[in-house]
Amino acid sequence: MKKYLVVGNPIEHSLSPKLHSHWIKENNIKAIYEKRKLDEKDIKGIISDVKNEKIHGVNVTIPFKKSVIPYLDELSPFANEAQSVNTIFKKGNKIIGGNTDIGGFEKSLKNIHYDVKNKKAFILGAGGVAPSIILALKKLGASKIYLSNRTKEKADKLSKIIPGVEIIDWGKNVDFDIIINATSLGLKDDDKIRLSFNKNGPNKLFYDVIYSAGKTNFLLNAEKLGNKTETGKMMFIYQAQLSFQIWHGILPKIDDETVNLLDD
Ligand code: ATR
Repeated sequence: MKKYLVVGNPIEHSLSPKLHSHWIKENNIKAIYEKRKLDEKDIKGIISDVKNEKIHGVNVTIPFKKSVIPYLDELSPFANEAQSVNTIFKKGNKIIGGNTDIGGFEKSLKNIHYDVKNKKAFILGAGGVAPSIILALKKLGASKIYLSNRTKEKADKLSKIIPGVEIIDWGKNVDFDIIINATSLGLKDDDKIRLSFNKNGPNKLFYDVIYSAGKTNFLLNAEKLGNKTETGKMMFIYQAQLSFQIWHGILPKIDDETVNLLDD
């Protein structure tokens, strides 16, 4: 029986076990997938468990996507560029850190037939998922990438890791075609993005990386102004699908049943 884990802190609300367990069963794989809450000091032990094959693969979530890097032997090109790891696996004797958030975001846009090429993108938030989104947008040929974060130093730091983004002061708006909420704002009712989008005009794409709360206020207000919206649900499913493929060599099926799993 092979063992897989998602690690993070907090981790109670992670839907990864549900999704992976569904695909494990559907593909008759002898494996289990569990969640585990970690402290920074536990990371080393988890990685040596992967080395000793007590654990066969790990999904990493907030806040460890970057801090796990020093413990790994190698990074995939995407993980290296983003300096962000969400999927750990063993190849030969090496423990590799991969990144399927980039592919997950990209696939979610393809799924709604949205072409980023030559579009202006505005990212809110410079936390765990932001570097992957910036890289995906660059790869897809966005003409401009704006980045705004409450703590400006974090945005500055990120723009040094991934060049080619313009930093916007928190609370200021810009002219964009697609806006992505990569902050945790919207998870609670009283947490709101206090930007007015009245002047941006309709037919923009408002994307919220948050996947567990249905439509956030950010998306509901965008709809009222005549914009298209996308929640983080499909990105979440696609990143899981790509992790599953790395570990098991099978691209699992995404159908209504898979998508509905996350709503129960
Ligand atoms: P981390 O910052 O530890 O990587 P995260 O969940 O990946 O955690 O990121 C949270 C994001 O939401 C950050 O961009 C954070 O902004 P700060 O860097 O300024 O903390 C943003 N965020 C969280 N609460 C916020 C709030 N009340 N107002 C504005 N931004 C907020």
